[in-house]
Amino acid sequence: MQRKLMVVGNWKMNKVYVEGLILANTVMAGLEKFRRPIQIVLCPPFIHLQTVASMYKEHPQLAVGAQNCYQAPQGAYTGEVSAAMLRSVGVEYVIIGHSERREQFNEKHPILAEKLKSAIAAGLQPIFCCGEWLAVREAEDQEAFVQQQLEESLFGLSEEEFSKVIIAYEPVWAIGTGLSASPEQAQAMHRFIRNLIAEKYGDNSAQNTTILYGGSCNAENAAALFAQADIDGALVGGASLKAEDFLQIVEQRAAIFQY
Ligand code: PGA
Repeated sequence: MQRKLMVVGNWKMNKVYVEGLILANTVMAGLEKFRRPIQIVLCPPFIHLQTVASMYKEHPQLAVGAQNCYQAPQGAYTGEVSAAMLRSVGVEYVIIGHSERREQFNEKHPILAEKLKSAIAAGLQPIFCCGEWLAVREAEDQEAFVQQQLEESLFGLSEEEFSKVIIAYEPVWAIGTGLSASPEQAQAMHRFIRNLIAEKYGDNSAQNTTILYGGSCNAENAAALFAQADIDGALVGGASLKAEDFLQIVEQRAAIFQY
């Protein structure tokens, strides 16, 4: 898979049906002015997926992602949704390993490794999140921490499987806090991640992997982040809930066109 310029909106658990429709529609309408090949992915709650996927079907720049999937393909798992089910309604991406799921739903490395494999087997592209806690950053252990996250779930994939993966570096201390990582901090970690990929899967894979930054990304700080050589785009939470804010971030990504 080739490296892409990408902006992903993670709505988390927000927007009832009609609100979601309006937001997805406004984002689509606002895209008419972007001619550059930017991939925009909206990740709404499950109830919106089928509708938004069908709205976006004809638009090559737009795609839909889920925020989670279950690791087993089917069966007696009350309340869960499989990767194949997501794919069957037109979903193309799935976020895996978001820090909120790691923390609040106790998702550990082995489960995330299974989720990655099942998502890819079903034809979804995983957006794999990694990133350190504040205490880890304060102890300056962030690189070892992220390396372990990658090694224990992501690097179990074959080279072919890995080629489907998008990585999102999201320092936990920056998520929803208004305190984004500085462009230099983010770039340093993105470069570190790319180097780890090069060691594991080779230079070609490293150069072709899309690595997004996430954590309080907004219209004010996006341009400086996107100007960094190893930051291909953003995974946006809070600012994806308003079409205008989200589109401004897309516009910043389009303005700095690297490849
Ligand atoms: P935020 O969330 O942009 O609200 O910080 C990002 C995320 O959790 O993906």
